[in-house]
Amino acid sequence: MRAGPAGESARVDLPGASVIAGRTRAIGPASWRADAVPIITLADRPRTQLSEARFPAIRMRRTRRTASLRAMVRQTSLAPQHLIQPLFVAEGSLVGEVASMPGVARLALDALVAECKAIEALGIGCVALFPVIPQTLKRDDGEEALNPDGLVPRALRAVKQACPGLSVMVDVALDPFTTHGHDGLLDAEGDVDNSGTVEVLRRQALIYARAGADIVAPSDMMDGRVGEIRQVLERDGQHHTLILSYAAKYASGFYGPFRDAVGSAANLGKADKRSYQMDPANSDEALREVALDVAEGADIVMVKPGMPYLDIVRRVKDRFGVPVAAYQVSGEYAMLQAAIANGWLDRRTALMEALLCFRRAGADLILTYYARQAAIWLGE
Ligand code: PBG
Repeated sequence: MRAGPAGESARVDLPGASVIAGRTRAIGPASWRADAVPIITLADRPRTQLSEARFPAIRMRRTRRTASLRAMVRQTSLAPQHLIQPLFVAEGSLVGEVASMPGVARLALDALVAECKAIEALGIGCVALFPVIPQTLKRDDGEEALNPDGLVPRALRAVKQACPGLSVMVDVALDPFTTHGHDGLLDAEGDVDNSGTVEVLRRQALIYARAGADIVAPSDMMDGRVGEIRQVLERDGQHHTLILSYAAKYASGFYGPFRDAVGSAANLGKADKRSYQMDPANSDEALREVALDVAEGADIVMVKPGMPYLDIVRRVKDRFGVPVAAYQVSGEYAMLQAAIANGWLDRRTALMEALLCFRRAGADLILTYYARQAAIWLGE
């Protein structure tokens, strides 16, 4: 359909388009006939054509000219409450910088508490804790994960006491605690055993909930674990503990620096997690994973990694309408930091764009190692 010049009547020449009788308006130059531009309903619009009007009636740059105009039409927002700060907690000689994640440190308990106070003051609502467990405490069955006085329960108690209003999330998985670096228990063939692992995870989740975790986050990708964890929490009266499931977690090459940080990289060696984490080639499978976790009682679902998987975030958000988190993982952080350090990317521009795009893709929440930095900039 085309808006004709003066004297030419409105014409419908595209399939599906229709003129709504009697409802036309002039949007062209005065020389155009007032009724020359028909109003098209949304359903009528061919997919390739969003508007009947043409240049110069339409100039897309009008709304881009000034900062205030751009702000008026901006669709997506980013604020500190959308961010979750992952933090590594360690003891003794394991405290210190993570070489493959410049700017990220393994924090001792007192430093962790100080960091949490600063993060809360910036308006960030949640931190995610990851423990660095000494090799001497690692076992094939990851039994240290079930120690009620282990590093994670102690960190939870310390942070919740100092910052009661800050939500604290913890990973439920065995990889920081196992000699082999896998997220669960191995069977005779060396594969991760589903039901044996779920049995341990439900106990781990309960210990964390009792220690004060606001959110338990199973990151193991075992089948059926969300339902089991929900049930054990309910039975124990932990009705308020949220489950954030790593629902669509892919077997990704972008977790390497995280495995350095928690010290599981060497344990895992050349092994991979493809028998339980998802194939990066798959998209429909992510929807099935999310559907199952939501049905089993997940309060928030996560897609991970982040930037290469924003299409999955969008599909999940559109399909389920539940709170969706996305994880800008360690490898994404390392890539950005490396390019920034070389002067190849502008730090602030690149970081804030990357985080905003998670929101545009449909993420309600973003786990990012840049949370604190982003919140500082957002507060300026
Ligand atoms: C452990 C876990 C991993 C991450 C979060 N929880 C690593 C893995 O699955 O191997 C990755 C986070 C990151 O790379 O930033 N289950």
